[in-house]
Amino acid sequence: MIIAFFSCQPYEQPFLEAANSNQRHQLTFLLQTLTSETVKLAAGHQAVCVFVNDHLTRATLKALADQGIRIVALRCTGYNQVDLTTAKELGILILRVPTYSPHSVAEHAVALLMTLNRKTHLAYQRTSQNDFTLDGLMGFDLYGKRIGVIGTGKIGQAFARIMLGFGCRVLAYDKVKSAVLQELGVEYLPLNELLSEADVISLHCPLTSETHHLIDVAALARMKSGAYLINTSRGGLLDTHAVLTALQSGRLGALGIDVYELEDEFFFSDWSNKSMPDADLDTLTHSPNVLVTSHQGFFTHEAMAQIAHTTLNNLTYLEQERLPADAVVVG
Ligand code: NAI
Repeated sequence: MIIAFFSCQPYEQPFLEAANSNQRHQLTFLLQTLTSETVKLAAGHQAVCVFVNDHLTRATLKALADQGIRIVALRCTGYNQVDLTTAKELGILILRVPTYSPHSVAEHAVALLMTLNRKTHLAYQRTSQNDFTLDGLMGFDLYGKRIGVIGTGKIGQAFARIMLGFGCRVLAYDKVKSAVLQELGVEYLPLNELLSEADVISLHCPLTSETHHLIDVAALARMKSGAYLINTSRGGLLDTHAVLTALQSGRLGALGIDVYELEDEFFFSDWSNKSMPDADLDTLTHSPNVLVTSHQGFFTHEAMAQIAHTTLNNLTYLEQERLPADAVVVG
């Protein structure tokens, strides 16, 4: 198959080439994000392959269909960036990577939590200036703390297991309870109870109309004063303004985010020599009790190899008419 890879960074290409070592597919790597303007770059290809910040809007999907392209392969698990109704209407097949190392994202959530708690980001800045003082660097023992996990699918479960290993009490909220986690001692609670009992809350549910702004003014008011909030899932789960207000008042003790509501314009690009037009992002990146990473939870060697492998396998299996059901979002 002839495939145009949009938003394809140079560090991804070796993984895709390795996954295509038999040269079965013809790959075109494009740095550009797929938009209604860049969609013309897909001309002459049979499929497009996109990432988390390529928005498959109605206009873009229509432009793809007009070029005769009816296969979209997502190099990710989530598909909140796709107008599924239009894809269905136009007969466009949407494929995804249903699973890859959940440990990559779960371990990144732990990294955010550990850094914010033990302030290693601030310590690094200090010691690199030969300042060896400790004032302001005090953290707390995670051992014995209550960790609230919202969404106990693959990543939430991996995160919960790590927290159990730290000796934490793990509380969970999900519409579907995991018997395995319950056997390990995880306690499922209604959302409001979890919010008010947890010392740390980590979000691992998808972004849907139901979970949009799950953490809003009301949810923040229910949380323990000084609680830590970690979001490696999708930016839209947080009402950013409400979270900023809660950080400023001290109601929220710290925030670790790998995703941001308006990340599309900024993440994966170098803005270091430009002025930052997004005042909220500017405030977040300059707050000592906030740690922002730019959607790198998935960014481990193992996960990258699995994503590349599954993405190309999906297209091979499509040709061979043996696509696994969980790879098909619309089709
Ligand atoms: P999954 O599908 O295995 O688990 C999601 C869980 O959320 C399921 O157990 C589901 O029942 C639950 N859920 C759905 N709606 C809910 C609601 N309203 N309230 C509570 N729980 C709800 O997905 P997985 O693989 O664990 O991924 C979770 C999320 O992580 C993805 O949706 C994606 O947004 C994010 N992600 C982030 C990455 C990163 O690099 N930062 C990489 C991969 C995924």
